[in-house]
Amino acid sequence: MVRISIFGLGPVGLATAVCFAAKGYRVLGVDPDTERVKLLQRGQPPFYEPRLRPLLRRAIAKRKLEIAADPTGNSRSDFAFITVGTPSNDDGSINLTYVRKAASEIGESLRASKRRQVVVVKSTVTPGTARKIVKPTVRAASGRTYAKDFFVCSNPEFLREGNAIQDTQFPDRIIIGSDEERSVRRLENLYRNFHGRGTPSIIRTSFENAELIKYANNAFLAGKISFINCIANIAERTPGADIQTIAGGIGLDRRIGPRFLNAGLGWGGSCFPKDLRALLSLSKSLGYEPAMIKAAIETNQAQWARAVEICKQGLEGLQGRTIAVLGLSFKPNTDDVREAVSIPLVKELLKEGATVRAYDPAAMNSARSVLGESVEYASTPLTCIDGADCCILVTEWEEFKKLQPSDFVARLRRPFVIDGRRIYNAARFRRAGIVFHAVGLGPAE
Ligand code: UGA
Repeated sequence: MVRISIFGLGPVGLATAVCFAAKGYRVLGVDPDTERVKLLQRGQPPFYEPRLRPLLRRAIAKRKLEIAADPTGNSRSDFAFITVGTPSNDDGSINLTYVRKAASEIGESLRASKRRQVVVVKSTVTPGTARKIVKPTVRAASGRTYAKDFFVCSNPEFLREGNAIQDTQFPDRIIIGSDEERSVRRLENLYRNFHGRGTPSIIRTSFENAELIKYANNAFLAGKISFINCIANIAERTPGADIQTIAGGIGLDRRIGPRFLNAGLGWGGSCFPKDLRALLSLSKSLGYEPAMIKAAIETNQAQWARAVEICKQGLEGLQGRTIAVLGLSFKPNTDDVREAVSIPLVKELLKEGATVRAYDPAAMNSARSVLGESVEYASTPLTCIDGADCCILVTEWEEFKKLQPSDFVARLRRPFVIDGRRIYNAARFRRAGIVFHAVGLGPAE
């Protein structure tokens, strides 16, 4: 049976590891964080991701997945996937420290090995990384010959947090970049065996195209959201307009498509913000100012502030007011608050003198590590809104969709709701006597 190593056990690495293990492959997961390794060995994912825990436990129980901090076991693998993080440097460019370290550990472990290993770069990296960094690093650390003893492929992933398992099992397409044929064929065969009859389109291309496809993909999606948010901001100032109807109308044009057209308080997370900054920085280093990328970022940076402004106007100042914030994670089904719009939004409310009471079904601990005790943390959505002057809905968790207008009327001091993700029915809320604002919803005619 084919053996696979995964270097870096974050959301991408773990999803990849448990999905291969579930199909019967022998997988070695390597991560330098010994605390994380101990947790994982006990079957505990260090973050929340639907379906991950049972798959992890089963893989460990069936001895299909081994977790270690020590990379030497990689010498027995046929494929080594690099799934480490690529954080932002201060200038927006990406930090390749972890990619270099993984490549070097892979190389060292291959020194005395007879395996002809394919090193697969899944981490999001700027063009040239596989060719100019991973390949020479593995070569130097292993002392072996490229395209004979070891191979390199660029194979970006398109997983969404909160949907990582499903996206690993059913990707829209597979991109494989390399400068030689053998590794591409081997990686393609691995995926054909893994997906069977459900194998999606496989695109074979150069390293650099594969690397850029990932950035273009994320930039397009983030740009699509910024675009609809921009139209939402126009609609919000237009009597009788509603961005949901407008998005529905343009989404039926097959050239546009209906997905990723949900207007809201903006995009966050560990990917879009970092990747757009990296693309901007890369582009500038090539002597080109990418106006579209800049506009997507700028639109996003201003998007959450409107909710604070409406709240401030409605309450005639925020000093001494209590604001309930529903949702802290950057999107539903994750406990991740990295670059979540909730963070600057809450900080701004506090700066304006408000007391903030927040609730999130999964992200309370991660939010606490960023916001500390500057915020009151409620234990349910209802206690969160109890006695508050205004409620801002920041993340569209299913749990919040169940709240009724009567819940807000009964609990808010004066019913005032700002729906930052368009989950509530404006007419129902207004009929109940609630002062109701929503992203992209114009004033009544
Ligand atoms: C994103 C991409 O969707 C993945 O394809 C990619 O693999 C991943 O980045 C990555 O580079 O690793 P993710 O960050 O997990 O995935 O989350 P998304 O579901 O894309 O949402 C990103 C942000 O956009 C969230 O803050 C979400 O609330 C916001 N969003 C999304 C909207 O405001 N409107 C939408 O219609 C969709």
